[in-house]
Amino acid sequence: MADLQKKAHALDTADELGKHREKFALDAGTVYLDGNSLGALPAHVPARMADVITREWGELRIRSWDESGWWTAPERIGDRIAPIVGAAQGQIVVGDSTSVNVFKAVVAAARLSADDRDEILVDATTFPTDGYIAESAARMTGHRIVPVDPAGMAAAAGPRTAAALVNHVDYRSGRRHDLPGITAALHAAGALAVWDLCHSAGALPVGLDAHGVDLAVGCTYKYLNGGPGSPAYLYVAERHQAAFDSPLPGWNSHNDPFAMTPGYEAAAGVVRGRVGTPDILSMLALEAALDVWDGVAIEDVRAKSLALTDFFLECVRAYVPEGRVTSVTPEAHDERGSQTALACENAPAVMAELIKRGVVGDLRRPDILRFGFTPLYVGFADAERAARVLAEVLADLPA
Ligand SMILES: Cc1ncc(COP(=O)(O)O)c(C=O)c1O
Repeated sequence: MADLQKKAHALDTADELGKHREKFALDAGTVYLDGNSLGALPAHVPARMADVITREWGELRIRSWDESGWWTAPERIGDRIAPIVGAAQGQIVVGDSTSVNVFKAVVAAARLSADDRDEILVDATTFPTDGYIAESAARMTGHRIVPVDPAGMAAAAGPRTAAALVNHVDYRSGRRHDLPGITAALHAAGALAVWDLCHSAGALPVGLDAHGVDLAVGCTYKYLNGGPGSPAYLYVAERHQAAFDSPLPGWNSHNDPFAMTPGYEAAAGVVRGRVGTPDILSMLALEAALDVWDGVAIEDVRAKSLALTDFFLECVRAYVPEGRVTSVTPEAHDERGSQTALACENAPAVMAELIKRGVVGDLRRPDILRFGFTPLYVGFADAERAARVLAEVLADLPA
């Protein structure tokens, strides 16, 4: 135990990203390993929100749509997210939930594809909302859904495939799927690639432009720390924007919204992914939260994330008796996101007790303990403590 604590100390001392921890409101008594579900609060956000509410809303009122930049917030904040996911400016718009953006993206992909392609492949292990919505989108556009395990996605794409919807990192196991390879295989088959980045954006390099992704969606309340229910985003590659045909053509995506004309005419660019009035308070909390990324390279975040998850597993192996937990997250670095998922008997009781003892992870029923590692505010001593407390809990709750 002492050896691993010493090692944790040495790793934390050498860790350049550790300095960002002070940017977050965290209490020393808790190890927060749930940033893959709800990111921690950046410490400066409350003061910024107080200003938004008291001055921009309270004093400037309606003038803030122009004077405080509220109207253009969806595109402006999209451009702040762009470098984190490897996208050039002008391709990301923020707004609505991930679920709603999945709908926009899947319908738009179906409309962008050739008429004789009638299948939409969907990650068979997907987060449920994507599957529900893709099924409805397929029904509306005259397509049929084909569930495919991401490992078989490349082989499954063929002349009938219009598009595929795939999760970059699996929400349950933490498995990272091969975004470059699957995207290339889909393109070779003449199909479009739509990616869900909820569990990868802010945790590892995505390379949307470099890998030629067509459309992508993601949430901002996990690794981007935007706050509960903060708006999601939609990426539309520049080459598709002129033909992007939104199924939700609200007035905010109109070419001249204040002309209030009865006929719809889509705005140029990614703005056509907007729908209605943006949820400004959440948007501006997200915009402020993104300040923590200034001067941070996503490659450094990835390197620390892999080191943290490796070290956590090393500690688990050292402290937890054989057979009590089994990692369902792949060991290989290129198959892993930024969480460790441990299958465990009696997982609900184990997680409840962990949380009582100050180690906050979460549970995916029936038997998965999830521990998310957010390199900007989680350190190696946290990983060691989490494994140690897990061993103590398991000792007190016999199998
Ligand atoms: C991979 C994935 N996709 C979609 C969603 C749903 O997002 P929302 O509730 O913002 O629509 C989540 C939520 O956690 C998710 O993890």
